[in-house]
Amino acid sequence: MTRIVTTFALPDDALELLRPLGSIAGPEGWCGALADAEALLCVLTDRVDAELLEAAPALRVVANAVVGYEHVDVAACRARGIVVTNTPDVLTDATADLAFALILSAMRGLPSAERSLRAGEYHGWGFWDYLGADPAGRTLGIYGMGRIGQAVARRAAPFGMRVIYHSRSRLSAEDEAALGAEWTGFDGLIARSDVLSLHVPLTPDTRHVISADVLRRMRAGSYLINTARGALVDEAALVDALRDGPLAGAGLDVYEREPALAPGLVDLPNVVLLPHVGSATRETRTAMALLAARNAHAVLTGNPPLTPIP
Ligand code: DGY
Repeated sequence: MTRIVTTFALPDDALELLRPLGSIAGPEGWCGALADAEALLCVLTDRVDAELLEAAPALRVVANAVVGYEHVDVAACRARGIVVTNTPDVLTDATADLAFALILSAMRGLPSAERSLRAGEYHGWGFWDYLGADPAGRTLGIYGMGRIGQAVARRAAPFGMRVIYHSRSRLSAEDEAALGAEWTGFDGLIARSDVLSLHVPLTPDTRHVISADVLRRMRAGSYLINTARGALVDEAALVDALRDGPLAGAGLDVYEREPALAPGLVDLPNVVLLPHVGSATRETRTAMALLAARNAHAVLTGNPPLTPIP
């Protein structure tokens, strides 16, 4: 009898933890094993909807091995008494590191400089060649001051950036002081940020929160960084804002309709495009898989999950 189904390959530590609880199916053919599954380990490309739950009547836990859970119908799971968990904390630093890499990469135009060199266009050092912009003295606006937003804020001070933020809930005065971050309303964030970095989850309220109108209100010469979810941004409008202004550039790790990109995006020289690699370090992905396995193990052994979704 199959107790555990996983849609992705588990590392050895996770397999060792789960094997004593019963058989493990997947990632090949995991769909066919759903009928007997009590635990499902899944990721953001798996749609856990009413149809899947219908096919998995014995399911007790959906151990989602990423932090975002917009691909899981949480209400349908709760209605069936199924616990849903995710993987907060373990990917915070890797994702914040990547957000900062995108900030520096977009501001210094690194991918287009590299493309130029590879194309044989580098004919020696030139005083006015390949110029970018300094982060020092510029304002970093953080939209969403949760774990990852705060980790990005902590990385800003050494680069001499001023930090402002907008978030559903405001931090305590002590936390603001420790991060050197100033709270502002959403409109103030848009109007004042030289670099705007997104760190909110995708919900019906945040879909296209960076709309054509918001993009028009961003500072001339500013940058948009998105390591959260693509659908926060109206991607077609972003193409226009990168082509015609006011944006100087963007750094994107996520897209509205992954893996598809909005028409015209790949042709723009002023955007850094990455294939959703925010948490993609060996250490972090291993920690995410292990946390998902621990959550599944806890529920299957009658214990409270370590990181249930809020
Ligand atoms: C997540 O965890 O939600 C990321 O997008 C994958 O790292």
